[in-house]
Parts: sequence; C-alpha cells; structure tokens
Amino acid sequence: MNTRDSTYSCRAEAFEASEDVPSSKSPAPTIGDVINARFGRRGFMRGALATTAIAATVGPVAFANRPAHAQASRFVFDEIQHGVDETHHVAPGYSADVLIRWGDPVVPGAPEFDPMNQTAAAQEMQFGYNNDYVGYIPLPFGSENADHGLLCVNHEYTNEEIMFPGIGRQDSDEVAFAGMTNELIDVEIAAHGGSIIEIARGDTGRWSVIQDSPFNRRISALSTPITISGPAAGHDRMKTSADPSGTRVIGTINNCAGGITPWGTYLMAEENFHGYFWGDTEGHAEQANYERYGVPGQWYAWGREDIGHSRFNINSEPNEANRFGWIVEVDPLDPSSTPVKRTALGRFKHEGAESIVNADGRVVVYSGDDQRFDYLYKFVSHGRYDPNNREANMDLLDDGTLYVARFNDDGSIDWLPLVFGTGGLTPENGFNSQADVLIGTRLAADILGATPMDRPEDVEPNPMTNNVYVMLTNNSRRTAEQVDSANPRAENRAGHILELTPPDGDHGALTYAWSVLVQCGDPNDGEVGAMWNSATSENGWFSCPDNCAVDHQGRLWISTDQGGAWSAVSGSADGVWALETEGELRGTGKMFFRVPVGAEMCGPLFTPNDTTLFVAVQHPATDGTSAFPGFERASTFEDPATRWPDFQDGMPPRPSVVAITKEDGGPIGV
Ligand code: FEO
Ligand code: CA
Ligand code: CA
Repeated sequence: MNTRDSTYSCRAEAFEASEDVPSSKSPAPTIGDVINARFGRRGFMRGALATTAIAATVGPVAFANRPAHAQASRFVFDEIQHGVDETHHVAPGYSADVLIRWGDPVVPGAPEFDPMNQTAAAQEMQFGYNNDYVGYIPLPFGSENADHGLLCVNHEYTNEEIMFPGIGRQDSDEVAFAGMTNELIDVEIAAHGGSIIEIARGDTGRWSVIQDSPFNRRISALSTPITISGPAAGHDRMKTSADPSGTRVIGTINNCAGGITPWGTYLMAEENFHGYFWGDTEGHAEQANYERYGVPGQWYAWGREDIGHSRFNINSEPNEANRFGWIVEVDPLDPSSTPVKRTALGRFKHEGAESIVNADGRVVVYSGDDQRFDYLYKFVSHGRYDPNNREANMDLLDDGTLYVARFNDDGSIDWLPLVFGTGGLTPENGFNSQADVLIGTRLAADILGATPMDRPEDVEPNPMTNNVYVMLTNNSRRTAEQVDSANPRAENRAGHILELTPPDGDHGALTYAWSVLVQCGDPNDGEVGAMWNSATSENGWFSCPDNCAVDHQGRLWISTDQGGAWSAVSGSADGVWALETEGELRGTGKMFFRVPVGAEMCGPLFTPNDTTLFVAVQHPATDGTSAFPGFERASTFEDPATRWPDFQDGMPPRPSVVAITKEDGGPIGV
C-alpha cells in the first residue's frame, strides 16, 4: 500500500516522500553548462541579477562585511523574532484577531461546533478544515470598500488525528484506516472545498462574520454540483457512470491557493487530487496519465473497496480522477450559481490561480504545478476583459492558450503553447484532441521540454511593476547534476523566489526575462547556499516560501510552509515576512507574523487600502511537533501540541482565518 510517511505531517510532503514515479522526464543541462552560458551572456540580466551572480560565487559569508545600507526600509514595523510556541505573534502595534474557525457556522441555520459529535450534515453548514487561500470581494461589488465584503476561503485537506476523538493517525501501514467509518469519511469530504462568508468591520474596528447573510455558502466535496466547461468538457475520458455527459461532477478537492478575477469571481485551485483515489493502474486505460500524476495516492480511505465512495476508486470508476486537478470558478455574488471547472487552464496540481488584465485586455492567469520537478504555467485568454459588462467576462476562461515555461540559460523564459497538433502534441504521441492535451497537461508539457522546477507554489503578478513573483518552496531531491539556472541548488530544502519580467509589461508575450530574488534558508550556514541582502536581520530570513501577496503599494509579502522539517530548516515556526524587491535593499526580509507550533501560514491577503491583512493558519499542532521542545511527540485530538486558538480543555486545535489590523487603524507596514 502506498501510504504517507509518518515522519512527514504535511500530506503533500508525505505523498512526495512516498512517491517513486519520477515526475518530469525532461533532461536538464549540467550546472557547468548553465553557469558558463548564463554568466557569459549577461545582455538579458537586470542589475540585481548581476549581484546574485557575484553572491553565488563568494557565498553568504561575504555579506557580513558589506557596508550598511543608506536606504530606509519600505516596511515600517518592528520585526518579531524567530521562535516556536503554542500561539501566534504579530509585530508590536498590531492586533491579530481570529475571524472564523473550523466548525464555526457559515450557512444560516448551521449548528454550533461540537467536536465530540461531528456529522457530515453539520460540517456541510460549517466552516471547513485547513483554510488555505483567502480572497476578498468588496461590497458593493465594484467599490473599494475595505470594511465590508465577501471572504472566499479554500479548505484544502483534513487531519483526522486531531479532528476526531479516539482514532489517531490512520494512514500508516499498521493502522490502515482501521478507525475510519463511512460517517467520518463523509465528515472529511464535507470539510473539503470552500466557504464564502459576508464580513464587516464594526465600530470597534474588529471584523465579524455576518450570520444569516444570503451570500454565506459552503462549497463541499460531498454534495456541490460543479459544471465542467472548456475543451475537455464532454470528452469520453471525462465521462462516468454518474455523469454520462462528462460535464457535471460532484465537488472539488484539495483546494489550495486560488485567486479573485477582475470580474469578481473566486478561483479555487485543485492541487493534490491524486491523494484521494484508490485502485490499480496496471493495465488501466489511463495508466500513463494516472502514474504521471501519482494517482492513486491513498491518503484517505474515501475510495477503499470496502468503505467510502466507489467513485474514488479508479477500478470501479475509471475516469473520475480525470475530473479533478482543474481550476474551479465560483461566482460569490450569486449564491445559487453553479461553480465551473475551467478545463482550458489545464489539469495538474494547481497551487493557485492569480490573474491580471494585460494592457491589451486579455486576461492572464499564472499557476504553478506543485510537485518536485514540475512546471510553471500561464493561461492567456483569447477574449478581452470588459470592465463595464460583468456578464461578458464570465466565460473568458473557457477559451485561450495555456503555456508552460522553459527557463533558458541566457536569463530568458520561453512560454511554450500547449496546443493540439503543434510541438509534438499529436496522435503519434498519444494526443488526439485539445481535450487530450489538457487532461494530460503534464505529459504534454514533458514533450514540449518545459523546465522542471523546485515545486512551484504561488505565482503572483505585481500590477504596479508588472513583475511576476514565483515561490519555489523546496526540492530536496534535486541532485547536483540536475541543477540549472532557475533551480540553482542541489538538495534545495529552503526554496527560492524568482522574479519574472515581461517585456514592456506584456503578460501575453512569449519571452520574458527572469532573475533570482532570494535563495532562502539560513544565511549563517554556508552549506545552505542562501542569498539574502546583507541588511536582513537574524529574524528576517525564512525558508520554504509558499504563498505571497502584493499590497496596494506594490510591496511583496511572503508566507511559508516548512512542513514537518521546520526544526531542521530554520528552527522557527512559519509566518509572514515582508520582502524588499526594489533598490539597494532588494532581497531583505523582515518578519511580521508567526504561527503557532505545527501550523503553516497560508492566504496572506490585503484589503483594498491595506488596513487589514487576512492570514490563514492551517493545521495548527500537526507539523513536526516531535521537535517542539517540551512536547516532543505527535499530536492527537486528545493530546495536541497546542489548543490554539481556543485553549479550552477538550477543544481541539482549529485552523482559523486571522484578521491583522494596525491599532491606530492605518495601513499595514506604513
Ligand atoms: Fe497546498 Fe502547494 O501547497
Ligand atoms: Ca500552498
Ligand atoms: Ca503548502
């Protein structure tokens, strides 16, 4: 049985650790080829990249003797310290208030949370588990209202060992899901998906959920019907016994990050969908496809033969796994609307889906495929955004071109189109239609020669500069022979951040420039190979960038997910750091917020005037608690490393969205 490794608490990490199928088959040039070619041809490099090249040759120790910087930080706050404890911390002068927790009522009539008597019916009306992406749509729509709006929150996955009493972790070979029941499975499924809640800031300056709002909605993996649209809709490989049309699927799973479109819809990115399926690929009609994606992952008991739902077993329902791994578009302004899986954006382990309107009106959506050695993508719509006609934009994401990135050794990127009939995406290679190209996006990108990356997470365009930031969280399996210019470290445990520069700000262009913004990790350890600006303090460096946000001054903020390895990678809990991108302080980090032990930091999101920063504290008490001094064991429902945020006996830790505001009411970091 393919199980998660118990030394990893994060399921994405665990899956990858247990996975033996190589992801990308693309050859990578050697480091010698790359460095020689790259640093010998500097015409495409920006100034900061030249600095990067120098630092790469002399190592981080050289930073210690560099002169102090004259430029003042763009981020005005007192930095907090690295560390780990049972609760969260924010910079002095700020409040960090819990807005909504797992189990809190969402839909009108929802019952109060009762952790000892959980039911799927209750969970479908309550806030789901493991909040990840956070989006905000001001009300009324079209305004810049920073005090009243709709919050759209993804619920990525579940942790049974701290959700449910008495069962502990279920996915080891020894336990083999013995404690799972159909009812618990349905609670898990109902805890996946998303929530839309109407929120407002009262006279006290504190945010609260507007109970009984008609906008409040749960999107659940258990019951929400979703339309499938775009080129793969209705294809034979999308048909199941429950849906002979291939155009309608129940639910969405492993919704990691996402995005809000310019027309006010909410994009949910389906990431590690493979983890929910069971069955055998040997001799399966979809064998090559499923093995490339790691289907079946068997993280949960949902598709086991004797329990759960047969649709999550590829033996009984051969095509169901083709109906996940997409971008889902939801209209939060119409609570009765049916969400839509937009197949034109490709099928892979989408981390997120951040969009920007190009100068010519086309909409560009960036998305990383979060697995070791997988790729970076962008979608460019054929149609143009109409700011005066919301309805006219609602199907823009059905028609366009999906591209995958190839990073060249001259500091350029080529965007390679995934278009049936071109570039080897032909019947000889197993592609008979654009639907085949999109269902097997990874296989198509392999053929095009895309660059295998160090786990692409969030990809965020900065509308003020048109630069695009790419979080590459880590890749401990990259060997020295596999190092390339865009993934410059072997055994990259700490990750790095790339800055992409479209020519003249044209996000539709087929060639961009790029540079390394920072190589993350401990700058005091020469073996790590970190590269930070020398102005970075002992608390300003971080590891494993995951999500990010650009505030309304165009400044970059990063959130991290070190997984179960946090103690080895940094010795500190995850959090939010400000990161300078301009001027002589470029590459300087500054720590703003820290999560409780075992959590990861998701969803940083600023309101339109930057007076609130929403963050999502995911899976408190789970990751790497055996390294938490004084606790030193794995958490369970009965015995968690922290009971954040309630700190009440008998109440388990609860993933929660936190609203950070400045005590004087002003914009954050100013
Ligand atoms: Fe769900 Fe790639 O983090
Ligand atoms: Ca993530
Ligand atoms: Ca993550």
